[in-house]
Amino acid sequence: MGHYRGIVARDFAISRTVCTGGNGFAQYTKRGYLIVGLSADYAPLEFHTTIDGQDTIVGADVAMAKNLASSMGVKLQLKEMQFDALIGALKTHKVDMIISGMSETPDREKQVTFSKPYLEERQVVLIRKSDAKNITPLPISATPRWVPKSKPPKSS
Ligand code: ARG
Repeated sequence: MGHYRGIVARDFAISRTVCTGGNGFAQYTKRGYLIVGLSADYAPLEFHTTIDGQDTIVGADVAMAKNLASSMGVKLQLKEMQFDALIGALKTHKVDMIISGMSETPDREKQVTFSKPYLEERQVVLIRKSDAKNITPLPISATPRWVPKSKPPKSS
């Protein structure tokens, strides 16, 4: 047990905790701080704002990271980087975990361990308001909800 590879908090439904397996958290408690990696360009989860004239990283993920650190009795250190650099940073121990609105994908799942989900994102297709009258909603929500009333022209 306890082959700790790294943790990514993912954003697909609702999550309670980020878990390590084994006694992974003990090392941070001993060290006194937790390093959370994020890419602060993803409001409302993590983004820059100015507070009292100071550039500050805020958002729901940041609040969660603060809660997590304080419940562990350690300080929080945020390490900001490009989103695509996060998993590499986790694997090379530059950060202790990622909390950055990251969704679980098969490729990421091969490299790191995800927490239980804490947020569900729903992606939608956008159309012009003026086109809406030509579109019929489908009753089944698990399939695309909107299809054109007319069939697409046959490709020759
Ligand atoms: N949920 C998407 C993903 O996992 C986008 C996350 C972007 N997050 C960010 N902090 N920029 O690929």
